[in-house]
Order: sequence, then C-alpha cells, then structure tokens
Amino acid sequence: MALVNMRDMLEHAYHHQYAVGGFDLVSLDFLEAIIDAAERQQAPIILSLAESHFEYYDFELAMAATVAAARRTRIPVAIHLDHGASLESAIRGINLGCTGVMVDASTHPFEENIARTRAVVDMAHGCAVPVEGELGYVAGVEGEDAEKHPGEVIYTSPEEAAEYVERSGVDFLAVSIGTVHGRMAGEPRLDLERLAAINERLGIPLVIHGGTGLSDAQFRALIERGVTKINYYTALADAAAARMRANADSDPRAGYTGLVKGVRAAIAAEVERCIELWGGSGRADAVLAEARPWREVAHLIVYNLSEAGEAGVADMMQEGRKVLSAIPGVRRVFTGDAVAADARYRHCWLVRFASEAVIPNYRDHPAHRAFADTRFRPVADDRVSIDYLAVEDPPAGV
Ligand code: 13P
Repeated sequence: MALVNMRDMLEHAYHHQYAVGGFDLVSLDFLEAIIDAAERQQAPIILSLAESHFEYYDFELAMAATVAAARRTRIPVAIHLDHGASLESAIRGINLGCTGVMVDASTHPFEENIARTRAVVDMAHGCAVPVEGELGYVAGVEGEDAEKHPGEVIYTSPEEAAEYVERSGVDFLAVSIGTVHGRMAGEPRLDLERLAAINERLGIPLVIHGGTGLSDAQFRALIERGVTKINYYTALADAAAARMRANADSDPRAGYTGLVKGVRAAIAAEVERCIELWGGSGRADAVLAEARPWREVAHLIVYNLSEAGEAGVADMMQEGRKVLSAIPGVRRVFTGDAVAADARYRHCWLVRFASEAVIPNYRDHPAHRAFADTRFRPVADDRVSIDYLAVEDPPAGV
C-alpha cells in the first residue's frame, strides 16, 4: 500500500528539482504500463484520469482498478482527477478514490475561475485532498493533432497568478506558457521568463499540461523553473497505436489480443524515458520516507432498533446508502445485519471515509444531520459509534 499524500509528494519534487509524471490512462494496458515503468525506475508516480476521456471508459470501473493497482505497488502513488469540469466531478472523483483533483475553470473569466476553483478547494481540503487549478489557457486536445484545435493560447500572468492562488487556495497551479495539448508539428515556443517570474512569486509546485512534443532541453528548463508535475498523454497513445498498426501489418488477420500485443511494453518504454528525463528515477524511498501515507478511516456504528425502527430497517438502510454516499469524502456506505441471531448489536453502518479530515465535515454535513436526526437516531438509542484509522502494511524499503 503506497498511496501517499500528493501534496507531500509534489513538495518533495519541488524542493529537489525534479518532476513527477501525471500520466493519463485510458485502459488497463495504460495503467499496468505506467505502474510497471515507475516500479522499474523506483519513482513516484501520478495515475491520472481525465474527465475528457470518460467517453472511452467507465470512470467508476477504471477507478476500482486504479485504486487496486496503487494499493498493490510499493512505489509512492497519487491518483488524480485531470481536468475536472465541476464541483460534482471533484466530489465523485474523491469518493471513488482520487487523492488529488484538478478543477479546470480556465475558460471562465478570472473572477469566475476563482469562485469555481474556491468551491472545489473548500470541499477537497475538507477531505485532505489537494487541488490543482489552471490560470491562462492551454489550447489543443489530448491525443489529437494540435493544429486541429488552434484555440488561442492565453498566457498566465504572474501578477494574476499570485492573486489567483491566494484567493482560490489551490495547492498546485497549472500554467500556460506556450505548451499545447496534443500532437505538434514542431517544438512549441516556451516563455521561460514568464515561468520563472511565476515561480518566483508563488513558490508552489507548478504544473505543465501538454507535455507531448517538448524537447529534452525544454523539459529541463521547465523543471529548473518550478515545474513539478508534467501531464503527458498523446505520446503514450501514439506509442500504443504505432504498436497496434505494426501488429496489423505483420498479421492482417490479427484479432483483438493480437492487435494489442506489446502495447503495454510500448507505453511503458515511453513512460520510463520520461521518468528518467524528468529526474524521478530512484526517488521512491525518499518520497515514502517524507510523504504522509494516505490513510482511510472506517466510521463504524453498531446498533439495535426499536420495534418501529425494526419494521422499517430495510427502507432506512436504503435511504442512508443513497444519501450518505453522496457526501464529500465518503468512499462507501456498507449496511449490514448481524450474522449471529444473538449478537449484542443487530445492525451496523460501516462508512468508509477518504481520510481522517472527513470525520467532522461528514458529521456536520446537512444531509448527514437530517438523516441522522430524523431517520436514524429516533429509532436507534442503543448504539456505539467509533472511527478507525486504517492500519496497513508499510511499503517495503522504509
Ligand atoms: P499531451 O497529450 O499533449 O501530452 O497533454 C496531456 C495533458 O496535458 C493532460 O492534462
């Protein structure tokens, strides 16, 4: 289990001048390839899922696999919602297991960008989840030719960036200094002076979107100026597609498994190249030693019901599962009946929280208060409630 606090992970990178890849995944091949590459390089890694890709996979199912992969590995991992479009998306991401979220309100005017981002920050910080915001506009679409989406790049202003970070409360800032999303015909021209000025003013981890197509020297120049997270997708998708085309050429009758043969290795090779170039190789142990482990909490209530309560228990549990699981930071609501007929307590709630920070916010959330005060407590006088912090195997190497 090596999920770690993403803020601590990026602070480490920021202070040691290297960058962690935020690699967008769109299938199990990508997930396994990214983890394999990071394990081989003994590097911290961010498993990133972009809302713009949700039409290609089921986010809930992909998150279940991503969380399982993160729990199984020994390298430090964060799970990030990339380009989250709304507060609702951010809540959904956190409840499914994201340990960092991006809110992308960069197409809105300055004040509205701040207001939308602030709302996500207030919610996410209530779950101890850090937030990435974007100021300025990085044009293009991941996975496609940049020229097809020539939208005007809007550069981040250092003065506005300082105000934006102060008022929105974001932990990391995605900046627009000349990169574009997607496949480029040549190298983009970067405004490195602007980046240096932003870094000097803010002193927080900076994020670059549109990593594909930058030269080795450009990556090094970005990292020297405070870039700590690099979002990267198109080059991985292209490496996968090239492998599939070669498979089709060598065997025109190849079926699905024949076409995807070797795709994982092709993606992993590109991820490894990036990790080495961005300076993450061999950092896993140092990050594990400094970053707080990500620990979920189990909120356990065992209870007995009055006669009237017992008559309506199934309905009450069903309503509770629906209402409580929508509260920010609630990973899962389990309801149960005792297996043994003579158990001291006949029923339970087992509510999993994303982190310890969720405890007071859940308790005071209007949906919880209303449910607890009107539906549960009046019929459940006899109850015990305890919060438990998860105790799991420490990752090897520390
Ligand atoms: P590229 O697809 O250009 O690498 O950009 C990825 C990205 O910025 C995802 O947020």
